[in-house]
Parts: sequence; C-alpha cells; structure tokens
Amino acid sequence: MNKSNILTEILGRIKPTMDEQQKMQKVADHIISLVDQVAAGSGLTDVSGTLVGSAARGTWISGEHDLDIFITFPEETSNEELKNVGLRIARQVAANADRFEERYAEHPYIHAHFNDFEVDLVPCFRVGSAAQIKSAVDRTPFHNQFILERIKGLEDEVLLLKQFMKGAGVYGSDLRTGGFSGYLAELLIIQHGSFIQVLGAANTWKPGTLIDIMEHGNKQHNDPLVMVDPTDPARNVAAALTLDRFAGFIDRARQYLDSPALEQFFPSLAAPISDAEFDIITSTRGTSLVAVVFDRPDVVEDVLYPQLFMLHSSLTDLLSRHKFSVLNSDVWAGDGEAVVVLEMEVAHLPFVKKHTGPPVWEGAHARDFKQKYLENRGLSGVYIKNGRYVVDVLRPYTDVTELIKNELHNCRLGKHVGASIRNGFEVRINRELLKINGEEFKIFLHEFFNIEL
Ligand code: UTP
Ligand code: MN
Ligand code: MN
Repeated sequence: MNKSNILTEILGRIKPTMDEQQKMQKVADHIISLVDQVAAGSGLTDVSGTLVGSAARGTWISGEHDLDIFITFPEETSNEELKNVGLRIARQVAANADRFEERYAEHPYIHAHFNDFEVDLVPCFRVGSAAQIKSAVDRTPFHNQFILERIKGLEDEVLLLKQFMKGAGVYGSDLRTGGFSGYLAELLIIQHGSFIQVLGAANTWKPGTLIDIMEHGNKQHNDPLVMVDPTDPARNVAAALTLDRFAGFIDRARQYLDSPALEQFFPSLAAPISDAEFDIITSTRGTSLVAVVFDRPDVVEDVLYPQLFMLHSSLTDLLSRHKFSVLNSDVWAGDGEAVVVLEMEVAHLPFVKKHTGPPVWEGAHARDFKQKYLENRGLSGVYIKNGRYVVDVLRPYTDVTELIKNELHNCRLGKHVGASIRNGFEVRINRELLKINGEEFKIFLHEFFNIEL
C-alpha cells in the first residue's frame, strides 16, 4: 500500500460516520439541556453547560464516546460554592445516567455512563482569560475556542495524528502514559499543517524543542518538548510528556517516513507469557526476577501511578546503595494487586564487602577509623588502597529478598502506596511471579523483556 492509500484506509476506519456524529451531538445536547434545567431549577440562571474537548471540535476517533461537558460558573463564585453547588448539579444530571462515580482531579467532578457514552461533568469558573484561571480546568474553554477558530478543514489530520500516537503508545497526557494530549496533537497540526508534516518536524526534534504558535516568547521550561500554550503563555502544554514518550514518537515518525505501514497506527499487543516462555527467557538471560506485590490502593490512576513510580525509584535506589544491580524494572497495577518488577543481575551477593574509610593523611579522622576496626574486627585487618584505609566487613544483606523485606518500610513512599505497603507486602522471586493473578500481568511480563513479538 502506498502512503496516501494507507491514510485513506486509516481514515475510513477512524472517522466517525454522519450517523455516529449525529448520535453524539444528540446525547451532548440532551445532557447540556439537563445541566441548564437543573441549574435554572436552583435559581442559578448564570450557570450553564458547555461541550468542550474533542467532541466539540470534530477531532474524536470513531468508537470513542468521550463527552467533556463543563458546568461553568461566574468568576465571582467562591471555591466552596463551585465545589458544592457544581457537584450537586453534576450529581443531579448524572442521576439520569446508567451509572456514575465521583472522581478527583485538582477538584472533584463526576464521571458518568449514558448508554455507551462516557461523560465527564466538570464544574469550572468562567474567567476573563486563561491567564486568570482559578483552577486548572478553567483553561479548557479557552483551548476549545482557540482550536475551534483554527481547526476547520484539518480535523482528518488530527485524527490521523492521534491514531498514529495511539499506535506508538504515546497518546494520553495522563500520568501513567506521560504522552501527548489531544490538545497537544491539535496544536501540532495547527503549527505544521498536516499529519505528514508533523512527522517531518518530529524527525528534527531534540530535547528542548520549542513551539510557540502565538509568538508569546517563552518562559523557561526544562521539558523535552515545550509547546507554549497559546491561551496561557506561562504554561507548557507538553508538560506531562516524558523523555521516553517524546523519543518514542520521534522513533515511530522516522520509521513511518522511511517505510510507511498500516500496522504502525495500531498498538501491537503482546500475548500473555506462558510458563515455558518465562523459563526460557529467564534462563537465557541468566537473571533473577523479583516482584514486590501489595494491595492496589483504591485511588484513580493519576494518583496511583506517580506513587508507583516513586516506590519504583525508592526501591532501585535502595538496591543500588546495597550494590544489587538492577537490569530492568517497571510497575504494574491490576484490579486487586500492584506490583514493582525488578530484573536483577544478581539476587545474592557474597558475605564480604569492602568498607572504605578516610584518606590516611586525614589526622584524627583517619586514626579514629583505624582504631575502631582494630577493636572491632571485620573480615580483614585495616589496609590501604588508593591512599585510603579499607577494611573488609560483613555485608548487612546478602539476599535481595531479605533486603527488601527489612528495609522497604524505611523508603520514601507516597501516601496511599505507603499505607498499603505498611499493611503488608510480599516479595516473590522467579517462578513465583507467575502466580500473580491475571492474563494482563502475563502480557505485561512479556512486554517487560522487550523481546520482538
Ligand atoms: P480530554 O482528555 O478528554 O482530551 O480532555 P480531548 O482533547 O477531548 O481528546 P480525546 O479525543 O478525548 O482523547 C478534555 C479537554 O481538557 C483539556 C483540553 O482542553 C482537552 O481538550 N486538557 C485535558 C488539557 O488541557 N490537558 C490535559 O492534559 C488534559
Ligand atoms: Mn475528550
Ligand atoms: Mn474526557
């Protein structure tokens, strides 16, 4: 298939049909009128519902029925009132839904299911400009206006870019993915003009790339990609994008420009690892697998994942302080359990370790060190190496499992993950990992080893 055939084929699959668009519009209109009715019923005539996000811009992918409906309050409203009244209105609207739940971002909102539509009902302030926001979500209506004024005729290009980013595993500004938001994809299309031109631009990107559509002049941001928010110059739209998602997009863009293929628009999902594959992979690699397993805290992913990443870095720091070398590591969370997986170069170290003291010429300090180990014998006498006193002593932990069991509670841990760990955790090694429940964990394990599928 040649380049333009591929794009036509992809668009055929991802562009909503007229019928689907009308259905979406009908549901949106219905919910907005519910918001307005509920608000008016409470005497709040200056509170109203408005559709924002990709559904308002014609940049949503067929089959993804995500409606972002904001409940806007006058700027003078107090934070308390916005929170209480906003949520009350959202709940009353959601009472018409199949089911709903309260979620917490910077402030609470309602996530509801109306038929097969996922609806976010988000209270926000109607402020004068995006630079005067009172809460992060207040920017969204300004994004909406900015994109609506410029996106006409470019919607298909946005769809292609979003789908391509999904295929590359870099779409989504949630804290788990650390990728590109829908708004960022739209701004890239506005800046470069087409899907292919965005890929061409990405081919020239380096960390520190700056895009400033409205020529606001940039504030300093130490991020891989800086997209100055056209509606709020102090903000980087790409703030959530991690270095590896940034690099992942460059990699896939280059690959597509060199040899375009339909498959690049769709993520390749690994098969669950079988017991036999696990044995072959680990014995070929000669490493030891260690998993720290605990109950998954009952919080949303944007709260959970930063804490899992913190646990992950605390653990790898602990291991490296004790000279256990980690080859690969990652985190996983299922419905019941959360896991940090570590692939260790070694799971055991010898009894002996070197303990290095001060340089011999550092007077009293050096004398004290030598005295201490003369009285308190290690596995060797005190000897000199590179001008310093050294003594061979017993290592506090020779087994990685013992180290983690005894020292994990001294590590820096986030609130919910910390509470769960204090409640109890298990350390599993090698084949014991296969007892962790669920196909999804076995898919994760397959991907963990970065083996071509
Ligand atoms: P969504 O996450 O629903 O994104 O956020 P979207 O643009 O509608 O894209 P898809 O098609 O659902 O994936 C809704 C709006 O919230 C703001 C943007 O204005 C976005 O359009 N937003 C969301 C951000 O500014 N940054 C974010 O990280 C997420
Ligand atoms: Mn959306
Ligand atoms: Mn949404």
